[in-house]
Amino acid sequence: MTQPEAQTKHTTATQPVPIRILDTTLRDGEQSPGVALNHVQKLEIAHQLVRLGVDIIEAGFPIASPGDLEGVSRIAREVRGPVIAALARAGQADIEAAARGVEHADKPRIHIFIATSPIHMQKKLNLEPDAVIERAVQAVTLARTFVDDVEFTAEDATRSDWEFLSRIFNEVAKVGATTLNVPDTVGYTTPYEMRELFAFLKGRLPEHVIFSSHCHDDLGLAVANSIAAVQGGARQIECTVNGIGERAGNASLEELVMAFHTRQDVYAYSTGIQTRELYRSSRLVSRLSGIPVQPNKAIVGDNAFAHESGIHQDGVIKARETYEIMNAELVGREAAVLVMGKHSGRAAFRKSLSDLGYDLNDDQIKELFIRFKDLADRKGQLYADDLRALVDAHSDTPSLFSLISYQIAMGSGMQPMAFVRLNTPDGQKEAINTGDGSVEAIFHALNSASGITPQLETYRVQAVTRGSEALGEVNVTARYGETVAMGSGVSPDVVEASAQAWLAVINQITAGLGKSREVSQTTA
Ligand code: KIV
Ligand code: ZN
Repeated sequence: MTQPEAQTKHTTATQPVPIRILDTTLRDGEQSPGVALNHVQKLEIAHQLVRLGVDIIEAGFPIASPGDLEGVSRIAREVRGPVIAALARAGQADIEAAARGVEHADKPRIHIFIATSPIHMQKKLNLEPDAVIERAVQAVTLARTFVDDVEFTAEDATRSDWEFLSRIFNEVAKVGATTLNVPDTVGYTTPYEMRELFAFLKGRLPEHVIFSSHCHDDLGLAVANSIAAVQGGARQIECTVNGIGERAGNASLEELVMAFHTRQDVYAYSTGIQTRELYRSSRLVSRLSGIPVQPNKAIVGDNAFAHESGIHQDGVIKARETYEIMNAELVGREAAVLVMGKHSGRAAFRKSLSDLGYDLNDDQIKELFIRFKDLADRKGQLYADDLRALVDAHSDTPSLFSLISYQIAMGSGMQPMAFVRLNTPDGQKEAINTGDGSVEAIFHALNSASGITPQLETYRVQAVTRGSEALGEVNVTARYGETVAMGSGVSPDVVEASAQAWLAVINQITAGLGKSREVSQTTA
């Protein structure tokens, strides 16, 4: 079999070359259609990215909206360890906003971009190539007055003229850009082309600059193209958890990291990623972004480690390696099935959560234990995924409104009717309302009892584990005026999970934590 990569096979004595991981889940990932993370959710993801071990967190695009600026500043103030980057177009207002966003970071970075392909320069920017270079140089010079660490991106690089790329990169490097990003903005390139492009540029720029790749997945090649970029000389990869991002998304962090990890014999590269945090990161991002992970997704999909056919199962029982190239535990998915039931005590509960990688304080454990007992009473046994869903659906948003009880009345020929009793800041309140279905009826009843009427935008329900005993997890997004909020709920009963998710939305809106949705426009 021909194996082109075999040329790069290394001996065991070779030291792997370190590759920096820039995670852009909170910026490019947040540009996925329908995603609107508020600053609390962004912070939660940022803290998880620290546990995951990313080198750089691209925290947002501060000029896009006050909410984006707030999200970046909160991360810059509160998250320690990685470099915190903010994106900016090559203009003064953008750069000043980005500088404000990262000013309290220990390690701040401003990431500037301008388009360099003929089609973008002519049709979008209406600028001559020399004017683009001039603007890029001015932008990097200005950014350097705020921070030492400046990244420069030539947007649509893979459709740009290579000589022109080399020129613009050399000019911005002279005025202090230290990381040069070569994005495949429209997901158009191929691995061979990518590798050649990086090798070409690397030979034309000073040694000290770090080349970065940023690949979109329009042709399903983002991971392959990123690896090719590294083989051509890139030492930073920009990627997202679950591969979320504009259109078809970005290169998936977990796939890249596990490719390097699993195929050390051909890829002599290392990352600082704690692989055992991959699954948890994926779950968190999926829950907060509202974007489900496809079951057959590599590394983190439900089926990624499941063996269905008898031949495969037989093989795995005899020797795991017959059909498994990675160990599920290595990516944070336990092989041994963890079972907890109504007789499990708080210490066992705490230990199970800590084994699953959750670092929770006493108050959080106390609150979750009550929910756990209630679920265990109703469902019998809870598995690792049930526990994860329980914790993931738990929100630290102050619960001004909480559900005491509810009832649904429905039957053929009648409109479903819901009754709810809530704890509210003004004491207990009850309300009855109707809807086209039981879920809508309970949403309407919660609106009546709380006095807040968000408009439902998206509603998603999925089973946490398999079978009729499975917990249902509901994720909703809703709009309230200019604000968008997201909420989740988990319960053996889908109507109850829906009620919890809707109340989480109402609580977020009341606490002022919804995200104002303005155009998140990254066109340079
Ligand atoms: O895809 C792209 O070109 C980008 C840049 C702004 C980095 O996201
Ligand atoms: Zn992008």
